[in-house]
Amino acid sequence: MYVPTQKPHDRQELYDLLVAQVESVIQDEDDEIANYANISAIIMDLVEGLNWVGFYLYKQGELVLGPFQGKLACTRIKVGSGVCGTAFVTKTLQNVPDVHKFEGHIACDSASNSELVVPLIVHGNCIGVLDIDSFHYQRFDELEEKVFQSIVSRIEKKLEKQ
Ligand code: SME
Repeated sequence: MYVPTQKPHDRQELYDLLVAQVESVIQDEDDEIANYANISAIIMDLVEGLNWVGFYLYKQGELVLGPFQGKLACTRIKVGSGVCGTAFVTKTLQNVPDVHKFEGHIACDSASNSELVVPLIVHGNCIGVLDIDSFHYQRFDELEEKVFQSIVSRIEKKLEKQ
């Protein structure tokens, strides 16, 4: 069970705690919406500098807004559009240091300046994305890429077993 603790100052320690909390939340719960909601809450709570965190889920040809933390967001994103749609079609993590320079970026929250999007791939199919936005430019480096990919890999493994 998720137990709130003090935030470590060391970045690696903080991210170890983040991954451990995500792991602990999803291990006892099979409902994916409940898990996406809690994962969004844990990330927003522990990671500094974020203005929006959430999931877009593939439904009937589009990415549809799922559980999130932050301000009101676009409800539907076309496959191939924006950072999320690009991560979805390419099935690759997108780390965008300056969203204003990303052609086709969809500005749901005008506070966002950088963005990290990780595709969720289950049995070879992309089923949605984890989208993380920051008001800082270049907020995400290789460590964040690794950490958020590792969170998504845990979700993928869990879904593959269900
Ligand atoms: N900026 C995203 C859209 C989603 S919001 O950031 C919540 C994009 O370009 O796909």
